[in-house]
Amino acid sequence: MKIKKGVSLIDQHDKNFMYGGKFGGNFIPETLKKPIDDLTKLFSKLRREKKFLNERDYHFQTYVGAPTPFIKLENLTDRLGGAQIYAKVVSEANGGAHKIYNATVHCLIAKRAGKKFIVGDTGAGYAGKMLSMAAKKFGLKCKIFMGAKDIKRQRPNVEAMKKNGAEVVPVTTGSQTLVDAVSECMRYWVSNCDLVHNCIGSTVGPNIFIKICAWSTAQISRELMIQVKDEFGKIPKKLKLINCVGGGSSAAGFWNEFMNTNAEFIGVEAGGPKNSKLHAAPLTNGSKIGILHGAAQYVIQDKEGQIGSTESISAGLDYPGISPLHCFLKDAKRARYTSASDEDALKAYELVSKLENISPSLEPSHAFAEAIRLAPKLKSSEVIIVNSCGDSLKDKDIIKQRLGSYIR
Ligand SMILES: Cc1ncc(COP(=O)(O)O)c(C=O)c1O
Repeated sequence: MKIKKGVSLIDQHDKNFMYGGKFGGNFIPETLKKPIDDLTKLFSKLRREKKFLNERDYHFQTYVGAPTPFIKLENLTDRLGGAQIYAKVVSEANGGAHKIYNATVHCLIAKRAGKKFIVGDTGAGYAGKMLSMAAKKFGLKCKIFMGAKDIKRQRPNVEAMKKNGAEVVPVTTGSQTLVDAVSECMRYWVSNCDLVHNCIGSTVGPNIFIKICAWSTAQISRELMIQVKDEFGKIPKKLKLINCVGGGSSAAGFWNEFMNTNAEFIGVEAGGPKNSKLHAAPLTNGSKIGILHGAAQYVIQDKEGQIGSTESISAGLDYPGISPLHCFLKDAKRARYTSASDEDALKAYELVSKLENISPSLEPSHAFAEAIRLAPKLKSSEVIIVNSCGDSLKDKDIIKQRLGSYIR
């Protein structure tokens, strides 16, 4: 499997919208064919339209707060010895996580499509919170589908969605987590697609949603490329970009501009509780290809091919599938994927929050766990950058319960 030179990551697919001939596609019911085709046509026009690009840039600057900081974690670097560790503090974006980029772009597209209603799914609650914020800003009526288990464990984000005027629909089917929320939201959209725009919260689903999401989060690496060159004068020879992966939107956005550089991409999945067989790490654990939410991808499944159960302390990573973009990057050997356990993520959260003035949520804490594991083995000339893509406030209750105290 090969990456085509000079073609952006989201456009690496063939005429059937498959990446590497194996991943992605549009495995959709007949009723969604027209809305998906319409959205595909609209987005391919908008992404080339100067006025739309100016609108996006304007809102990213004046609403999202771009650029987010790029900082050196001096204390963590000194404590670990070895590589220099930096963070791209995406949690400083308005709302506290990267999900604001996709939500903002989807609202702009919905407005262009003349839609007054927008729906979305959420796991950690950030995709839902951001969509509720953007919907409020752009005057759209908003409904968010969220698993009942996630509603309980991500309370602060649920409160934010409600405060922003969104209706939060609890999903009580299946595992009551993100996978069920995405399914329920798509089901709702199938019956209401004439009036309603759908914003899938990660780089998953039918191809157009993967494209819009990765195109939006690419803002992260556009900023980072400039910040890295400012800091080092050039791209360091030995550079590792470490990102957690749930659906894969933050990682896709963090790596996009560095595709044609020597930077090493490391994706960190949720390994789940240490002594449990359950995890949410399809790439690390050799899962087979299956179809989930309209796209072919590596997905956790049982012997009959039914979607398997997952477990993770982090609601945002607790998903059995993974973006076709990441399946492609893995098989093309452009990115490497590993996992961190719940316990490792908690330890990483604690160390980073104690030593530095950032407090990563449990999702990026998985990425920090890998950085903490790797840094002491590397030379001081090597550079690690972690995408600190979410703020820990939403995880306050879980952290207090597991560690006894919450540091921020
Ligand atoms: C802060 C944060 N990071 C990471 C993720 C994982 O999603 P993705 O892999 O799409 O970035 C989520 C998902 O909710 C999240 O809220």
